[in-house]
Amino acid sequence: MASTMKLSQLFSLLAFVCMFLINLSFPGYSAADVVGNETDKLALLAFKSQIIEDPLGVLASWHESFHFCNWTGVSCSNEQQRVINLNLQGKILSGMLSSSVGNFSFINLLDLSGNSFQGEIPPELGKLGRIQNLNLSYNLLGGGIPPVLSNCSSLQGLALNHNYLIESILPELGLLSELRKLYLGNNNLTGTVPASLGNLSSLQELDMSYNRLKGEISSTISQLINLRVFRLSVNIISGEFPAPLYNLTSLEFIALSFNNLTGKLSNNIYRECEPPRHQSPSH
Ligand SMILES: *[C@@H]1O[C@H](CO)[C@@H](O)[C@H](O)[C@H]1NC(C)=O
Ligand SMILES: *[C@@H]1O[C@H](CO)[C@@H](O)[C@H](O)[C@H]1NC(C)=O
Ligand SMILES: *[C@@H]1O[C@H](CO)[C@@H](O)[C@H](O)[C@H]1NC(C)=O
Ligand SMILES: *[C@@H]1O[C@H](CO)[C@@H](O)[C@H](O)[C@H]1NC(C)=O
Ligand SMILES: *[C@@H]1O[C@H](CO)[C@@H](O)[C@H](O)[C@H]1NC(C)=O
Ligand SMILES: *[C@@H]1O[C@H](CO)[C@@H](O)[C@H](O)[C@H]1NC(C)=O
Ligand SMILES: *[C@@H]1O[C@H](CO)[C@@H](O)[C@H](O)[C@H]1NC(C)=O
Ligand SMILES: *[C@@H]1O[C@H](CO)[C@@H](O)[C@H](O)[C@H]1NC(C)=O
Ligand SMILES: *[C@@H]1O[C@H](CO)[C@@H](O)[C@H](O)[C@H]1NC(C)=O
Repeated sequence: MASTMKLSQLFSLLAFVCMFLINLSFPGYSAADVVGNETDKLALLAFKSQIIEDPLGVLASWHESFHFCNWTGVSCSNEQQRVINLNLQGKILSGMLSSSVGNFSFINLLDLSGNSFQGEIPPELGKLGRIQNLNLSYNLLGGGIPPVLSNCSSLQGLALNHNYLIESILPELGLLSELRKLYLGNNNLTGTVPASLGNLSSLQELDMSYNRLKGEISSTISQLINLRVFRLSVNIISGEFPAPLYNLTSLEFIALSFNNLTGKLSNNIYRECEPPRHQSPSH
């Protein structure tokens, strides 16, 4: 008996040494790579562990038989095999949104829209310095918008619309200088529209409709020279329609209905508009 035990122990030791040597001799394998992509795999597994319902079975491929880069919704960079996209749009997943999403340090796109993620937006997302598109729209997320999101300086699209977000829109969002689309509509946001949003010089689409925003529209909005779409309907915005908005020649769509605005619209608002094509005599 005693000798059998010793033999099996010896085998375990040998197996361990062999695995160690294989790891060491793996071509082009540096410690940094191992640490890097293991981090992404662990973060994906932690993300999965928080999901309680997956009616479409989309996470069925998320197990050891497949490399994690082949898991449904995951895309990796070719060279380093780091997660660059996690796209689970419309997969009807429910559960908490794991804070492990903050560990995808190479991620470019995180699209979890159209699911039933609950809980708060993890502040760990502020660690994602390379993320360009964050889409958490159409979920059940509550709490406030974490101010650390302003740390994601590469963000071009931020969609948090159709959730249950509360509290105010923090002035820090005005630091996201690359932002082109900011969707915050259909939440329960309160407070005023921060003047700092006028610093978002790349912004093309701004949607803050269906919230409980009050106060006047800051004249800094007129600095948004690339703005095409401006939605602020169904809020409690007061004051007059801001005259500087007439100077935004890029504007194509504006929605301000159901607010507490006063005054009249200037006749100028039509000046920059082309007449509808079918009414034009030359056609
Ligand atoms: C995420 O990263 C932090 C800090 O590096 C680490 O402590 C934590 O274990 C990681 N979590 C997961 C799920 O990988
Ligand atoms: C992913 O799967 C395909 C085919 O199923 C395979 O050719 C490829 O090597 C796999 N990729 C990784 C990173 O394992
Ligand atoms: C980590 O990346 C290396 C290449 O850099 C790759 O050979 C290895 O399979 C990856 N490990 C995992 C667990 O994906
Ligand atoms: C802000 O971003 C930097 C680099 O991208 C990162 O090191 C830091 O942890 C982030 N801060 C927070 C609060 O997430
Ligand atoms: C976010 O996702 C929704 C629904 O899937 C989509 O309609 C929208 O265009 C996306 N927004 C951005 C900024 O990517
Ligand atoms: C918004 O907040 C009010 C008051 O707290 C609450 O009655 C309402 O259900 C909330 N609506 C949404 C969409 O969160
Ligand atoms: C952003 O906007 C605010 C208010 O409009 C202004 O005081 C601040 O100086 C601006 N910051 C930057 C970095 O442009
Ligand atoms: C609009 O722009 C013109 C010329 O750039 C300027 O004279 C005028 O004061 C501006 N109007 C408003 C309301 O900002
Ligand atoms: C609407 O604006 C008027 C002043 O124009 C103000 O007296 C009233 O309190 C405002 N209503 C709300 C709901 O903010």
